Amino acid sequence: MTIVKTIEEVRAQVKAWRAQGLTVGLVPTMGYLHEGHQSLIARSVAENDRTVVSDFVNPIQFGPTEDLATYPRDIDRDAALCESTGADLIFHPEAEEMYAPDFCTYVDMDHLTKGLCGKTRPIHFRGVCTVVSKLFHIVQPDRAYFGQKDAQQLAVIRRMVRDLNMPLEIVGCPIIREEDGLAKSSRNTYLSAEERQAALCLSRGLNKGRAAIEAGETDAAKVRQIITEEIEAEPMSRIDYVEIVDWNNLEPVDSTEGSILAAVAVYIGKTRLIDNFIIER
Ligand code: PAJ
Repeated sequence: MTIVKTIEEVRAQVKAWRAQGLTVGLVPTMGYLHEGHQSLIARSVAENDRTVVSDFVNPIQFGPTEDLATYPRDIDRDAALCESTGADLIFHPEAEEMYAPDFCTYVDMDHLTKGLCGKTRPIHFRGVCTVVSKLFHIVQPDRAYFGQKDAQQLAVIRRMVRDLNMPLEIVGCPIIREEDGLAKSSRNTYLSAEERQAALCLSRGLNKGRAAIEAGETDAAKVRQIITEEIEAEPMSRIDYVEIVDWNNLEPVDSTEGSILAAVAVYIGKTRLIDNFIIER
């Protein structure tokens, strides 16, 4: 496995693989890798001849008051995890390699990016769509792997690929959790021991909501209420949103009978955590 920092090196390597007729999978990440990322890498390794992992904390998807400066980084640990999982190449550029000082071209999206996380993070998905488009152009993979953990991001990327006719397949992968239910996240490292315990209210609330649907509840407002009450029962929590939306267009729904995404964003202390479940019908 090799680590490269320039676009030119990625292009040369992928070109050599292509010349041998090999398929290429891409796993875009911001690093500080955990078992969630690892599940994406393992899937790509299983489904493609070669796997590229990008490891880049993308500045343009962070708002001015967000955690860009403190976002955790550990390239040596990331490299060991990629290597042991079977990845072939890590692309780990500096911000200057990705963004020229006079960079001014963005990929933006209406509708899907306005609700859920888009409400409190107005420039976030523009930054995600732009960097992911750039990575697709740099690597030109056959397949790219995204986690359902960031469900809105997965829906947005799928729509971007469809709307802009990008020639690759987007593969969505299930949420990997800690044994007690907390969804794995690089941001979990921000939590104190007490906050780590409090953070369980997200998965607990979602589990209650899902159980209500499985028991026959079809009123989305009621399911939303069940999830909200469970999260609010935790004194350290502050809800950003609890939403039930159509999984295809991310519009709020009245009934839980179609394909739905139930998504939450909750502050535990200063840390904003997200979690969700999807029911596809
Ligand atoms: P990052 O937060 O590092 O996540 C990289 C990928 O790992 C995303 O597709 C995310 O959904 C997936 N992932 C994270 N935690 C997971 C978990 N517990 N289970 C399964 N998958 C999980 O998402 C980003 O980076 C960035 O926005 C990026 C797409 C790289 C663009 O900068």
